[in-house]
Amino acid sequence: MKISIQPIRPDFAGEVFGADLRKPLSKEDVTAIEAGMDRYAVLVFRDQRLSDDEQIAFTTNFGAIENAQGGNITKDHEYRLKEGMIDVSNLDQSGKPFDRSDRRRMFNLGNRLWHSDSSYRAIPAKYSLLSARTVATLGGNTEFADMRAAYDALDADMRELVADLVCEHSLLYSRGAMGFTELTEAERMAFRPVYQRLVRTHPVTGRKSLFLSSHIGTIVGWLVPEARDLIRDLIEHATQRDFVYAHVWCQYDLVIWDNRQTMHRVRRFDESQPRDMRRTTVAGDMATAVQPDRPN
Ligand SMILES: [Fe+2]
Repeated sequence: MKISIQPIRPDFAGEVFGADLRKPLSKEDVTAIEAGMDRYAVLVFRDQRLSDDEQIAFTTNFGAIENAQGGNITKDHEYRLKEGMIDVSNLDQSGKPFDRSDRRRMFNLGNRLWHSDSSYRAIPAKYSLLSARTVATLGGNTEFADMRAAYDALDADMRELVADLVCEHSLLYSRGAMGFTELTEAERMAFRPVYQRLVRTHPVTGRKSLFLSSHIGTIVGWLVPEARDLIRDLIEHATQRDFVYAHVWCQYDLVIWDNRQTMHRVRRFDESQPRDMRRTTVAGDMATAVQPDRPN
């Protein structure tokens, strides 16, 4: 394979040509895709008719698959997909769209808020790969915001203010922001907050970016309303249209994004129809901050 990448926006999001992701990739192809990710942070591959096993095999070119434990409220017997696959569809185990009041639907509505996948984990995710098996009939775009551009556009005072801040991230905060608070004690325990630096540096390019997410509930050492005021302000700044690429899905698109450099959200769609989207996640390899002391 000889792949090439065309920018979608000058420095953000690229489309990859010449790749068949069902086949094993050469070292050169993997290197070219990683270089494309470092540069564009989001890569789009069209017409990739992947099975789940092929998607998992492709994903492992970029690192270990992230352990999905503690990332949702789905019970063991409710899984539709095999281990390693994250189900971000609107479908139950029998393949039918969730009932309106289904807890899993309520929980997934949190994905409409801007976030970085797994920022609620002590070691946050590297890449997410999302494969469109059945696309929404109406709506359902995924929007990506460039957190490097957002950092670059901060003025000097704001850069100084945020430089060393550490935020608390938890699914309790993002779901709470949607008014979904009906969680069991076990779920609350699983979703205990972790700490993340607000400014992070990309390990390859050295570029700084804002590590924002709707999973943020407060800033360590700040009063909660002060913290939420600043975080809301930064998220508004970071998601202005100049920094956003909106992906309009076609069936069999595969999109990879770097959670270390971007935020994303899904837009409203017709939930009476199936929207079958399957994610795999590449685990990160380091924490961004020292974690809070607490008993296990
Ligand atoms: Fe997500």
